[in-house]
Amino acid sequence: MSMTVLVINGPNLNLLGERDPDMYGTATLADVEQLCRSEAETVGLSVEFFQSNHEGALIDKIHEVRRSASAVVGNFGAYTHTSIAIMDALAVLTVPIVEVHLSDIYAREDFRQHSYISLVAEKVIVGEGPQGYVLALRHLASRLAG
Ligand code: DQA
Repeated sequence: MSMTVLVINGPNLNLLGERDPDMYGTATLADVEQLCRSEAETVGLSVEFFQSNHEGALIDKIHEVRRSASAVVGNFGAYTHTSIAIMDALAVLTVPIVEVHLSDIYAREDFRQHSYISLVAEKVIVGEGPQGYVLALRHLASRLAG
């Protein structure tokens, strides 16, 4: 049985494709999910895909998979910059965590340049658009194989 990676997306990412396409592109979250599932199949992983606009729901999902997921790919949207609670939930996990952002948060407003998630992530991928999720899954496939 293949290892499962939780791909978890936070607030406003359900509006991908219509939300600020100059910044975030025209792919929808369904497109991102499809991309993740196809890459996961290529590298021999399974994906559980989840999105919520609610901090508590994101935390509940992290708790729910804490014994079953082999890794996490997370884009927590604006909670990246504010949520000690999500960081604490992720810190309970002992599996690798990769943080993804579609945009380059380090080239944007000052308030986006601090990430609580980075404190518990082993890798951070920014500014690659949806391809960032693919790169995260590739990293995890070789990481989990080794
Ligand atoms: C984002 C960057 C965040 O600063 C922003 O709040 C988002 C999306 C990204 O993927 O580039 O919602 O996480």
